[in-house]
Amino acid sequence: MYGYRGETIASALHAAGVKVLSYSKKHQRPRGFFCAIGNCSSCNMTVNHVPNVRVCVEPLQEGMIVESQGGRGKLDV
Ligand code: FES
Repeated sequence: MYGYRGETIASALHAAGVKVLSYSKKHQRPRGFFCAIGNCSSCNMTVNHVPNVRVCVEPLQEGMIVESQGGRGKLDV
């Protein structure tokens, strides 16, 4: 996928048609943009193997590995 320099991961995904960013812990319901200012954690995703990154405020960088996550996410140790 592609994005513009300086935009957030979430905005690049949204522009590409990706609206589901994660799944809720208890019922696995889809989650996406909610506050878009880094306050709610609705947009948590796993970025470069690090879970719980709020992608609505995380700048896009070339070569990132961005994955949706379920629940609290898992650390790859
Ligand atoms: S949408 Fe609320 S923290 Fe990202």
